[in-house]
Amino acid sequence: MKTIDYTKYPLPRIRHHANPILYFPLKQLRGSNFEYPPVLKSVKWSDFFSDGKPPSYLDIGCGLGRFLIESALKDSKHNYLGFEVRRNAVSWIDGVIQGERLKNVKALWYSAVNGFEFIKSSSLSKVYYFFPDPWVKKRHYKRRAFSVELLAEIHRVLKPSGKLYLMTDVHEVDEFQMAAISKHGGFDFAYVDDSKWDIKIKTNQEEFCLLKNIPFIRMVCRKKRD
Ligand SMILES: C[S@@+](CC[C@H](N)C(=O)[O-])C[C@H]1O[C@@H](n2cnc3c(N)ncnc32)[C@H](O)[C@@H]1O
Repeated sequence: MKTIDYTKYPLPRIRHHANPILYFPLKQLRGSNFEYPPVLKSVKWSDFFSDGKPPSYLDIGCGLGRFLIESALKDSKHNYLGFEVRRNAVSWIDGVIQGERLKNVKALWYSAVNGFEFIKSSSLSKVYYFFPDPWVKKRHYKRRAFSVELLAEIHRVLKPSGKLYLMTDVHEVDEFQMAAISKHGGFDFAYVDDSKWDIKIKTNQEEFCLLKNIPFIRMVCRKKRD
């Protein structure tokens, strides 16, 4: 399998967080005097993927995209879409995709809190939501994208029995997510250990946690059949 030499793509200075307004749905914001990722109603998949087909996999908050890119590289028969709110992270991923001539992967500058109307219902096999920004201060909880509304949108786009995968190293985030999943009610869910985790590729943050011996949880949520 092809391997990518990432040192060919020097990283620009990328801030830890985007402008805080980007964590809120556009419809909640007043005025238009700021740069906000376009809220899309429809897309032409052929602009993103060479086979013109829609994605099968979605990585929400793909960060620097290691997991997204490597997954696409390993599975050229399916298309992989990532959402990321930090624009220069998306530009960097774009550089790698162009440089390596990858045809089945796209990182989109997009804030997941706006829903994703442009993705057809019951079309995705898997959605990944890995190591979200924790926003541990109570006054920052509202910046967390994970909510019953986001779950409803993930539930809509997943195929029957499609799966949502979660990882976090922050206990409060885990509790917060669990509460939302229970409230939503449309998923069967379970914590899983290494032996039951069927994903071989690691994310940037997962690698970091493993390197520093930081414990984290893994959870798989399966869409219940209607
Ligand atoms: C801690 S990083 C984890 C990145 C990657 N998933 C990983 O495991 O290495 C969380 C990412 O989610 C992105 N993010 C936060 N809120 C978002 C939103 N509303 N829409 C899209 N991306 C978001 C952040 O910019 C950041 O890159």
